[in-house]
Amino acid sequence: MTIDPTPAQTISTEHPTDLQVVGESYMLRLANADDAEQLLRLGEDPAVTRFFSWGPYTSIEQPQKYIEDLQAKRDNGALLEFVIVERETDQIVGVTGLTEFSKRDRRAVVGSWLGHKYWGTGVNVASKSLVLGLGFRQLGLERISSYSHVRNGRSKAALERIGFVGEGILHAWHWHHGEPQDVNIHCLLREIYERSEIGSDKIEITGTVPAAFLP
Ligand SMILES: CC(C)(COP(=O)(O)OP(=O)(O)OC[C@H]1O[C@@H](n2cnc3c(N)ncnc32)[C@H](O)[C@@H]1OP(=O)(O)O)[C@@H](O)C(=O)NCCC(=O)NCCS
Repeated sequence: MTIDPTPAQTISTEHPTDLQVVGESYMLRLANADDAEQLLRLGEDPAVTRFFSWGPYTSIEQPQKYIEDLQAKRDNGALLEFVIVERETDQIVGVTGLTEFSKRDRRAVVGSWLGHKYWGTGVNVASKSLVLGLGFRQLGLERISSYSHVRNGRSKAALERIGFVGEGILHAWHWHHGEPQDVNIHCLLREIYERSEIGSDKIEITGTVPAAFLP
């Protein structure tokens, strides 16, 4: 397994925003105010947000508010979410990140969404390689799980393709649009990740990990 020899700094400034995870064709970086327009275009498609509690976006204020709230969520350890950027074009193609951290139990949950035109292009695997690499190689996680709505066959298949293993259904786990929603729960353990195709991908992690997510 190739592990980048220069790990990200572990000394945190008060509000670090320079954390990046860089792969061959895509990179993850933290969102900034200038990204709202691109996120609006990607998130205004109802197919993208069909299984989510939010969306589709209908105004620029919605992605602006999403971006504004991210810093507080990084500060309190609730969410470490990134925009996925295509390196060649500098275009944002989607969002991925980690939530539900338990430091004691070394686990977190990964969630992602991509602009519709990027589905089936390989971005999903490439961006999961980056966010899972961050979690397992840098943040000391032993288990990363993921939820997918029981009718979201595409998301379930995409997770299993990477090596996530189904653990069953969590009933009434999410509450969306005034209704309880059942979700599949899948997990990837470190040992399976390390043996998987993406477990040996070359990735470079630079910048400062927000203190709340340090192992
Ligand atoms: C979920 C998401 C990130 C996956 O990315 P993607 O690029 O579409 O995924 P992939 O192409 O890598 O894999 C999808 C797999 O599902 C398969 N598939 C497509 N539609 C399917 C369906 N209805 N049922 C089952 N499998 C399906 C595809 O054939 C593909 O499998 P293959 O690679 O073995 O051919 C993306 O579709 C997305 O952003 N969806 C909207 C947001 C979302 O639902 N996010 C997940 C929240 S849990």
